[in-house]
Amino acid sequence: MKKQVLTGIKPTGRVHLGNYIGAIKPALEFAQNEEYMPAYFVADYHGLTKIHDKEEMNLLSRGIAATWLALGLNPEKAIFYRQSDVPDIFELSWILACFSPKGLMNRAHAYKSIVEENIEIGREADTGVNMGLFTYPILMAADILLFQTEIVPVGRDQIQHVEIARDIVESFNHTYGDTFTLPQYVIEKETAVLPGLDGRKMSKSYNNTIPLFEEPKKLQKLINKIKTDSSPPGAPKDPDASVIYSLYKEFATDIQTSEMRNRFLSGISWGEAKKELFDVMNVYLEEPRDRYNELMASPEKLNEVLLQGAEKARKKTRPLLQEVKRKIGILHS
Ligand code: TRP
Repeated sequence: MKKQVLTGIKPTGRVHLGNYIGAIKPALEFAQNEEYMPAYFVADYHGLTKIHDKEEMNLLSRGIAATWLALGLNPEKAIFYRQSDVPDIFELSWILACFSPKGLMNRAHAYKSIVEENIEIGREADTGVNMGLFTYPILMAADILLFQTEIVPVGRDQIQHVEIARDIVESFNHTYGDTFTLPQYVIEKETAVLPGLDGRKMSKSYNNTIPLFEEPKKLQKLINKIKTDSSPPGAPKDPDASVIYSLYKEFATDIQTSEMRNRFLSGISWGEAKKELFDVMNVYLEEPRDRYNELMASPEKLNEVLLQGAEKARKKTRPLLQEVKRKIGILHS
């Protein structure tokens, strides 16, 4: 039996370098190893907790699907689907909700930080919180548990969600006997936090991201915006303290990286370093960007791939959902 790996991305913004390096790239690496059966999906109903505009949802959701495929996901070797096409997930989500203490949800970071901010500025605690957002971790647990997932590659910000899924497994299994597999998260160690344009963590909420498939000219402009210190050309620069270097090494070969390291130490100018960064990134991203643009231009083809993937997903999820329903006494057989 292959080990089940599963991860999803919610369509709430354009995919950026932080998503790619911290989550997508390491997740796709599992597909290279025969030991694993990976499932990758578009978490569109998670996106609905935030995105309430039809066109935006449609575009962002297609964008996530096209991103996975453009980066080399092979739907023959993985289960690749859109969450909303697999209703079993939502049925399980309700069942799991009945095993999720409300206090556990109160403590979820995403919800807690909104509440704290509301209180700080004198608003009512739950202002702007819909129930989808509040129960977000339960739907995520359903995503994970319905596939008997062993490994969940995610960014650091998602660790708590996987821990909540584990709590839910323990509660359910304790009541009904061994049913769900206990999932484990895996995070990319080296670049767990990728800095953005301003040096803070690259994140949609800081508005400091570099979109992964940005057109070359805009990409160059964004790279030029990366904040640097005022050390002049010729002055030695610390590669390990530089956003430019940490991005560079994600896209360069080992040899290029060690050469760049030396150039930092011997005083490359920031302008030159930025130009080199653009060059390696552009070479690396050119092909996937073309594929991405092609896929975005043929929504029907994309849809077909996703629907086939959903069928494949349901072959796997249906029997477990049946088993769960039998265990809780909903199915009388
Ligand atoms: N919450 C994840 C994020 O914001 C997306 C997600 C939804 C997910 N369901 C998942 C990730 C299941 C891993 C497994 O990035």
